[in-house]
Amino acid sequence: MAGPSQPENGTPVPEDHVIVLFGATGDLARRKLLPGLFHLAKAGLLPARYRIVGSAPSQAALSDDDFRKRAREAVAEFGRSKPEGAAWQEFEDALSFGAADPDDPGPLLAAVQEAERAVGGSPRRLFHLAVPPKAFASVVEMLGATGLADNARLIVEKPFGTDLPSARALNATIHAVFDESRVFRIDHFLGKESVDNILALRFANGFFEPIWNRDHISHVQIDVPEKIGIEGRAQFFEGTGTFRDMIVTHLFQLMGFVAMEPPTTLAAKPLRDEKAKVFESMRPLDPAHVVRGQYEGYRDEQGVDPRSDTETFVALRVELENWRWAGVPFFLRSGKSLGQGRHVVTLGFREPALRMFPLAARDVPEARSNELVIDFDDPGRIAARFLVKDPGPAMRLSEAEMVFDYASSFNAMYALEGYERLILDAMLGDQSLFTRSDGIERLWEASTPLLEDPPPVEPYAPGSWGPESIDRLIAPYRWSLPDRR
Ligand code: BG6
Repeated sequence: MAGPSQPENGTPVPEDHVIVLFGATGDLARRKLLPGLFHLAKAGLLPARYRIVGSAPSQAALSDDDFRKRAREAVAEFGRSKPEGAAWQEFEDALSFGAADPDDPGPLLAAVQEAERAVGGSPRRLFHLAVPPKAFASVVEMLGATGLADNARLIVEKPFGTDLPSARALNATIHAVFDESRVFRIDHFLGKESVDNILALRFANGFFEPIWNRDHISHVQIDVPEKIGIEGRAQFFEGTGTFRDMIVTHLFQLMGFVAMEPPTTLAAKPLRDEKAKVFESMRPLDPAHVVRGQYEGYRDEQGVDPRSDTETFVALRVELENWRWAGVPFFLRSGKSLGQGRHVVTLGFREPALRMFPLAARDVPEARSNELVIDFDDPGRIAARFLVKDPGPAMRLSEAEMVFDYASSFNAMYALEGYERLILDAMLGDQSLFTRSDGIERLWEASTPLLEDPPPVEPYAPGSWGPESIDRLIAPYRWSLPDRR
């Protein structure tokens, strides 16, 4: 089997692969996975020889030609490059389809065998489970029973379980077929450039890390408001809600990166060990420190129970009991139908020891200062907000910003979107940016008090920033969003 090779720009290229996309007719495949795979192909980051087999239950089976047509439409609508020219032709030729039901995997087996013949040798298999969570177990069992799991890695979509017992059961099912070194629990937030940049910022510079602790930081905000509603995903959302969809999956993971101790190296084990220690140090969530919200009009959406108690918004306070962060609250917020779609981590610094400018805050009531703001929208931006003196005879203060902006600073040629980066990492066998089984179980364990006794949902107006009680939750601090962008 050919091992990874190394092209000119330093990014390794994976060994030969057959990639199987379960859920190939679904929304995620259309919006992200197929356009992402084509982008990887165009960037020269797919293996020298590869095939991509789409799969779905037999009632949604497609012919190879229909799958190729769908892929072309998906790339045309959501891709960064148009599906045309020699690059597209080569990609399209690599696509085929094989339906699979738990009791009839025949068409998939035939399609994988055909794809392997076309690649030649014994290519590595990569299975991507872009299917509803309830289907994870049956697909994994089928992969084990048919032998398809041999020489294979597995990408599992989120949410990974709905509570501690279900996450444990799912881990047990998966581990019966795939050992942990072959399991890639995907969280596309961790593939975003700016999330990696948190590591670079903290550990590649001498001046951030010494102040990255309770002595200098008063509180941290991890804020991911979304402007979109549930976009017709009532069936998924009703059974999931924002806490499971966004907090356990994406925001807790970000918190792990912001809060971790320096790992000994950036290899997968030390990095994931340090993240796991952050989760270990989490105090069990206190429902009194959680605001659950539901946007007005949610209950009228098609497919939503008119008495639904599902939250479309969560804000919460998390406490980490360790030497670095004791006494520093982490405020996390995410919700649908809010004022803006943003991805922002804000570190709020302590006030200077001596207040020589007593009027500063009142002079500039909306002042945003004393903050480091990491905006990880693709392509991302980092701003240090501070106070400066206004020119003139009076000692008056004004806010100022020092900004690093990815888009205007770098050529984005090698930039990959979250999914692209992570699928590439999975092909390379690099687990650094994937969630480990102990990490996810610990998060569910710490969430248990909230899951068992959730506070009632509070209504909020679409386009707002959530229920009013979020200001009490964060007091005496203030939410850093909305800002003036
Ligand atoms: C997904 C959630 O994982 O992340 C969606 O299921 C959410 O509900 C999406 O909208 C947000 O991702 P991004 O990258 O668009 O912020």
